[in-house]
Amino acid sequence: KIQFIKAREVFDSRGNPTVEVDVHLTDGSWGRASVPSGASTGDKEAVELRDGGKRLKGQGVLTAVKNVNTEIDSLLADQSPFDQARVDALMIEADGTANKERLGANAILGVSMAVARAAANSLNIPLYRYLGGVDLELPLPFFNVINGGKHADSGIDVQEFLITPIGASNFRIGLEMVADTYHTLKKMLKDKGLETAVGDEGGFAPRLKSTEEALSLLVEAIETAGYEPGKDIAIAMDPAASEFSSDGVYNFEGKKLTSDQMISYYQEIVGKYPIISIEDGLSEHDWDGFKKLTEVLGDRIQLVGDDIFVTNPEIFQEGIDKGIANSILIKLNQIGTVSESIAAIKMARKNNYTTMISHRSGETGDTFIADFAVAMNAGQIKTGSIARSERVEKYNQFLRIEEELGNSAKMAHFDVK
Ligand code: PGA
Ligand code: ZN
Repeated sequence: KIQFIKAREVFDSRGNPTVEVDVHLTDGSWGRASVPSGASTGDKEAVELRDGGKRLKGQGVLTAVKNVNTEIDSLLADQSPFDQARVDALMIEADGTANKERLGANAILGVSMAVARAAANSLNIPLYRYLGGVDLELPLPFFNVINGGKHADSGIDVQEFLITPIGASNFRIGLEMVADTYHTLKKMLKDKGLETAVGDEGGFAPRLKSTEEALSLLVEAIETAGYEPGKDIAIAMDPAASEFSSDGVYNFEGKKLTSDQMISYYQEIVGKYPIISIEDGLSEHDWDGFKKLTEVLGDRIQLVGDDIFVTNPEIFQEGIDKGIANSILIKLNQIGTVSESIAAIKMARKNNYTTMISHRSGETGDTFIADFAVAMNAGQIKTGSIARSERVEKYNQFLRIEEELGNSAKMAHFDVK
């Protein structure tokens, strides 16, 4: 049973305060989890409760911490940690709002994840086993090696340029292929007199003129590292288009583009570069455009909905009904509980959407999402570049899991269309 819950304020990878939660059980075992935080957030995400006022520029989370230590602590006392669905439902009900704004999604998610950890620890099994059982698969990792948009001052409108080792036979080899490419890219940037400092997600943030310049650099880096673009290593992008669109206009690379022009642009680059996946190619408010994008490119590449679905099963169902995207990004703190994230994944599977588990641009050392991705057989994960420990730790956790699974370890296959 749950004995008591203790939350505290800690700091994330951007120096912002966030919630860490310890859940203690009556059998003496316990679990800890901490909550990440986004920068390019979707409008309909569950609410991250911040204190406001002067302290820490209003970003403090002491109210959320207090909500855990008082209200949620009493609410969950004596509940079974093994009934994740009930624990999450109790918190959702007690919160009483549609977007978790009263208790705070940061408070609720911290508890939700820490309860799962405590339960796994109590059974003395790894978290991925507890949440997933047997027949587990490692996800194909997507590494964000060039950062733009809100995550860096590189001046590039597209937020993320990712590479993924689709040809790797296992996770370790995939990671090695990416490490080779990452170091090659770094040297290339240096030789060209470009910046090699990294952005929020550990990717380089060079001042580039255009998306195409970044894509060409990636192709060159993959080749120079000794791999075949599109066969060994492919490219994915997250333009996070909500961030550069307003009133139906896309302010992209110095031009004002319509939704149709953005779609034509994506068609053009997909034809020129080994791009297999585009996330949030259009704004979260441009459902008609996103539907059209799906019609035009959906049978050629993966189209991932992040800000447009915000891991919210209700909104996602609407998107499925309207024929929007063919993949969903899963960020636990967008919805605020482990159970609802699982519901979104199940919904995706039922409707032939692929799933990509995701970190946030503000992260902690918590590797929960690595175990979660394996447990859910999610197929894909993105958790930054192979730099910055709060990102790399998650990739390292897959190495440990792969080692533990031994001969039964397999890596998810990506169907290149
Ligand atoms: P965020 O970025 O964590 O800043 O929202 C990640 C993403 O857009 O996928
Ligand atoms: Zn995104």
